[in-house]
Amino acid sequence: MKNKTIKAIDAIQEAQKIAFSPFLFQSVVSLRKLGIFDLVFEKRNEGGVTIDEISKELSISTYGLSVLLEIAESSDVVDKDENNKYELTKIGYFLNYNETANVNINFTNEVCYKGLFHLNDSIKNEKPEGLKEFGNWSTIYEGLASLDPEIKKAWFEFDHHYSDYAFEEALEILFEKPPKIIYDIGGNTGKFAISCCKKNKDVSIKIFDLPGQLKVALTNAKSNGFEDRISGSEIDWLSENPQITKGADIIWLSQFLDCFSKDEIVKILKVCADSMDKNTELYIMETFTDRQRFDSARFSLEATSLYFTAIANGNSKMYKAAEFEDLIEQAGLEVRKEIRQVGENHTILICKK
Ligand SMILES: C[S@@+](CC[C@H](N)C(=O)[O-])C[C@H]1O[C@@H](n2cnc3c(N)ncnc32)[C@H](O)[C@@H]1O
Repeated sequence: MKNKTIKAIDAIQEAQKIAFSPFLFQSVVSLRKLGIFDLVFEKRNEGGVTIDEISKELSISTYGLSVLLEIAESSDVVDKDENNKYELTKIGYFLNYNETANVNINFTNEVCYKGLFHLNDSIKNEKPEGLKEFGNWSTIYEGLASLDPEIKKAWFEFDHHYSDYAFEEALEILFEKPPKIIYDIGGNTGKFAISCCKKNKDVSIKIFDLPGQLKVALTNAKSNGFEDRISGSEIDWLSENPQITKGADIIWLSQFLDCFSKDEIVKILKVCADSMDKNTELYIMETFTDRQRFDSARFSLEATSLYFTAIANGNSKMYKAAEFEDLIEQAGLEVRKEIRQVGENHTILICKK
């Protein structure tokens, strides 16, 4: 047991923190949304700010402020001095100003919070029971393009935040030997395809995605002037017999296979393998839980797995690289090279037939 030496009094304190964690989370959301964190931070050079001053400035009742700030203080998010003036702690600062914390909080609140209530049923039924909070789909990807604007914004900011960091470095790797034709499987909004066209004037990209996303991607490609180099093909990998054409130099699957169960991943990789010749390379870019340098990154990924369970599709997760190696082999492919820490959290596996 890792925490064998923890004192009982500390263990019970940790247990209560977990028992009431949604309360603290929603308090933090309110402290951000109501502008309380911003004001407390702005007043730091004046030695902090009292509840009465915050109340006057933001027109929020002192009662409301007291309940939010009391739990924030006992959770080390804010500090109160002997003159009852509040300041942000380092934790409070990161909760309000760190970009990763920002996308994680919005994603948790807008996309996951209500759906997670159905986690227990999702595990029992092996279905994303929380998805019914948004619509009557079997996976979130079917409804992605039609989600409410606030929810959609949080979903895309979360998705892009993690891939954007990696894309820049990935492009360098991908274009070491410039490919002529790239297939972007799960090309989403077309962001990566557009970056490829900007990087190299000769490359063409074909995006494969569900109809809703593909339409958005091709519209974006056109508005960036790349309609002659970015094409697309509708596909549903969960359909009976999905197929892709031959002819790619590189097949690119970024943050895509984690949307599927192990059996589905093998099926997708086999279809890709069938379209490959001996020169085609298949690039898988993922944030594997066993390839993280920091515990906080691994923890965030393990939390994201529960989003897949309760909301996205009910059967996928953030995988370990070790699990993927086995699936790649089952599909008749071989990992030729592994590149770690792409944009810090991602790993690229370059595979061949
Ligand atoms: C998490 S996004 C990854 C987007 C992008 N590749 C990136 O790295 O940011 C997953 C993509 O897979 C697509 N997708 C999910 N399920 C699918 C399915 N059954 N058939 C085809 N595409 C699917 C989604 O529409 C979405 O564009």
